[in-house]
Amino acid sequence: MTTQEAHHDHEVDHRLIMHENEAFSKASRINYFDLVIESAHNSTLVDADGNEYIDLLASASSINVGHTNEKVVRAIQRQAQKLIHYTSAYFPNRPEQELIERLSQTVPGAPKEVSLANSGSEANDAIIKFARGYTGRPYIVSFMDSYHGSTYGSMTLSGVSLNMARKMGPLLPDVVHVPYPDLYRRHKNETEHDVAVRYFEEFKQPFESYLPADEVACILIEPIQGDGGIRKAPEEFMQLVYEFCHQNGILFAVDEINQGLGRTGKMWSYQQFQDIEPDLMSVGKSLASGMPLSATIGKKEIMESLDSPAHTFTTAGNPICCAASLATLDVLKEQKLLLRSLEKGNYAKKKFLELQNRYPEIGDVRMYGLNGGIELVKDQKTKVPDADFANKIIYYAFMHGVLMITLKGNILRFQPPLVITQEELDYAFDVLNDAFKAAENNQVIIPSNAKIGW
Ligand SMILES: Cc1ncc(COP(=O)(O)O)c(C=O)c1O
Repeated sequence: MTTQEAHHDHEVDHRLIMHENEAFSKASRINYFDLVIESAHNSTLVDADGNEYIDLLASASSINVGHTNEKVVRAIQRQAQKLIHYTSAYFPNRPEQELIERLSQTVPGAPKEVSLANSGSEANDAIIKFARGYTGRPYIVSFMDSYHGSTYGSMTLSGVSLNMARKMGPLLPDVVHVPYPDLYRRHKNETEHDVAVRYFEEFKQPFESYLPADEVACILIEPIQGDGGIRKAPEEFMQLVYEFCHQNGILFAVDEINQGLGRTGKMWSYQQFQDIEPDLMSVGKSLASGMPLSATIGKKEIMESLDSPAHTFTTAGNPICCAASLATLDVLKEQKLLLRSLEKGNYAKKKFLELQNRYPEIGDVRMYGLNGGIELVKDQKTKVPDADFANKIIYYAFMHGVLMITLKGNILRFQPPLVITQEELDYAFDVLNDAFKAAENNQVIIPSNAKIGW
């Protein structure tokens, strides 16, 4: 099949988007395709033209239990009839109370407390607040290529796009970025150990030149970077950073917004590493199956370091969102979705490796559960990113009923709902195979006015 034979027509989608664009701020959407989502169930999306797609994005990893999951829908409906909202900034509601207890128990180790908010960005802002509040220290260290959100605090922590800083400064003071290890682009003959040591040396450089360690409140890391390309830090690097924190009284914080809640096959992605217990962590996205809810979970004494209203929001702890979250946590457990993420993830990894054998454009296949970054390059040796080729793949897939986007331009982002079926996976891989074939044969023509990606 080629794009000429594409079976998807996007006339209505296109018209609706053109109309919306007259009033929609371009700062608020990364452009990919003419696609207006009309409805969705499990792993299937339907657009305004009535086209169906297999969803390999899960709304940016916020629908781990599948779209319109019956249990989640029922919980939302029931709660909406009872109480739509009363601000938990003043008075608690039952779903919120139940969720606080459940979440404090989902993180093993020392007793935890929880603070709720609306977005992942706000949960990361809370990490800054609590870390500074508890330690009395100003500096926060985060990583290049990280995505932590879009509020002033969380975008300052981020390091993945100039557009998240450009023209908006000054950003939050006293935030320092260090490089995140890249196991794919190694120096000649480097082992994983060498990479871990090299990046740890780089990590230490600020501390040896201008950043007093005893003035650093916390280090925030994505144990597996999401927008940075689904990249896992080497175990040894993580342990060195963790140890450095403990030696210097620095809090160790993890962002689980993208990779948490079963995405990697573990409940939390930091559990992919040995014996790590974060002091603070942020959760969002799939927490309430895409309903606006986030949480900052931390050790009790740290979460007790600030007084109200240091981190309150009128709509935080909304009872419908909390009911959706409780149902989501039930579904993850009842349907054994962590195990499913592992099993189907292994299958998907095998399929991507098969594609890599066939198509030299695939430089690296990184898979952790149903969660992958497939890096496309111009040449296996030079590893120069090939964003044009990646755009052709996702455009072809889109035209043939498979929704996928890219990370950093050249990395295919594979994060389907964890309930995706074997048949859907097989169909998606057939389409991807056709996409590589068509792209290699110069048969994918992206309309000249289309701007795809960041
Ligand atoms: C790792 C990570 N942290 C934080 C965020 C920000 O969450 P939100 O968009 O809900 O504010 C995201 C969103 O993409 C993310 O991937």
